[in-house]
Amino acid sequence: MDISEFILKHLQLPSPIQEIFEDEWKEKNIHVFVKRDDLIHPIITGNKWRKLKEYIDFAQNNEPNSIISFGGAFSNHLYALAFVGFHFNLKTAGIIRGNELSINSNPYLKQMADWGMDLYFLDRESYRKKIIPKELTSKNTMLIPEGGFSNIGVLGLKGLVTELNNQIKADYIVTPVGTGTTAIGICKYSKIKTIGIQTLNNKAEIENNCQEYDLENLLEINGNYIFGKYAKDADVLNKFCDTFLKKHSIMIEPTYTGRMFYGLYDLIENNYFPKNSKLVALHTGGIKLPH
Ligand SMILES: Cc1ncc(COP(=O)(O)O)c(C=O)c1O
Repeated sequence: MDISEFILKHLQLPSPIQEIFEDEWKEKNIHVFVKRDDLIHPIITGNKWRKLKEYIDFAQNNEPNSIISFGGAFSNHLYALAFVGFHFNLKTAGIIRGNELSINSNPYLKQMADWGMDLYFLDRESYRKKIIPKELTSKNTMLIPEGGFSNIGVLGLKGLVTELNNQIKADYIVTPVGTGTTAIGICKYSKIKTIGIQTLNNKAEIENNCQEYDLENLLEINGNYIFGKYAKDADVLNKFCDTFLKKHSIMIEPTYTGRMFYGLYDLIENNYFPKNSKLVALHTGGIKLPH
């Protein structure tokens, strides 16, 4: 299937942009707009589509025997890749953390296998080392690194910036950060000051990833809202996400978008942004798969 045909048939693109309001922001005349990439698709939601798009394009032109990537037992990324592989008739392989698992360990793994993804279950040590099973090394394969970081992943953000440029003239863009792929791509193509809210303790990895790009000091990574460690449950975050949903009717989850919006609110409160600023917060999706 052609990518533009797939987009027309399955995706809501461009994703909409929506202003949200808080009384406290009025006197500062700060306007916050949410770029609703969470509405792109229920499965390839948010930055999943942005980061996968150019890999699909590359695969269609280079015809690898298989597209390989890594993830945990509830990986949104692998789930999205399996779905995309099915629709584009591309062979995919998912390397899963945990050799105690099997296809039947949860409905998502089963669904991924049903979409045609070959699943390989690695012990944690081999997974940490990102060892590729022998069966796959012999084939002509294409590797998508965990988190999608590469020039190809970064390139996928160009489309988002084109959409944004047609929708709003922002002073700042705020986004959650894992590998930094999304933040780097936004900053690189928009040349707008980008604030990346870190969600895990991986400053060195992010700095390393940024090094390859000339971001003109426009990307600022903020590590104040990690809440200890990746995905660590915090009451204050869960409450924040619940209140946010009630107020704005926009679902966010604590791991990525919850941390990002929490940070954004805090930065506004502490006058990080000058009065009269127009901010775009990127809703990067994030489905909380029920465990
Ligand atoms: C919902 C969500 N937001 C943000 C991120 C972080 O994105 P990146 O790795 O591009 O920094 C992820 C991870 O892919 C994610 O699942």
